[in-house]
Amino acid sequence: MAGLLFAGGAQTTTQMIGSGLLLLLRHHDQLGRLIDAPELIPSAVDELLRFESPITLGLIRHAADDISVGDISIPRGDLVFVGVASANHDERRYSDPERSDVTRQENPHRTFGHGPHYCLGASLARLELQTVLAALIEQYPTIRLACDLPMFRGGPSVLRGPMALPVHLGPATTKNTRKLE
Ligand code: HEM
Repeated sequence: MAGLLFAGGAQTTTQMIGSGLLLLLRHHDQLGRLIDAPELIPSAVDELLRFESPITLGLIRHAADDISVGDISIPRGDLVFVGVASANHDERRYSDPERSDVTRQENPHRTFGHGPHYCLGASLARLELQTVLAALIEQYPTIRLACDLPMFRGGPSVLRGPMALPVHLGPATTKNTRKLE
């Protein structure tokens, strides 16, 4: 349990900070909205979690019964990998799922899992992400990507996230007075 708390708590959040920031830096309109209205940061964090889950295929379960999902029959006892990233982009659940929208209100994403093993650190992770984002955009509102395409690491068994995220921070401000063009 201690290992799970440290490993599961640190890597996930680290990757999420990188992926979430990268998404915002690629969508300056969204970043600009947060700079104008920092009260949107909580909904923005959940949207980043939905859009760029660090756990893409992470929920592993055994089927409790024989079930069918679409055309696929899953016999009782079979191992099932739940596609979290796919569920988070389900067009039957989200309007315009391939668009990241920091103002999205209804956002029942599965990035923290579901059911009795729902992530124990979900509130802490949200708080960490909100704190990082608020501090960064307040202090460095002109932050920019320093290169075009950071490489992603990922795969079924690896947490997804950028291997590095070079940025130009720009001059630090103490007040939130600057805006992105
Ligand atoms: C963005 C950050 C995080 C993500 C995406 C994430 C994701 C998840 C997911 C999907 C599960 C459920 C696994 C399953 O049902 O099989 C889970 C469980 C868990 N998470 Fe997180 N997590 C994050 C941050 C944290 C943090 C910060 C902590 C603690 C400091 C933490 C501790 C745990 C623990 C202890 C469990 C197991 C809960 C149980 O089995 O009852 N996680 N996490």
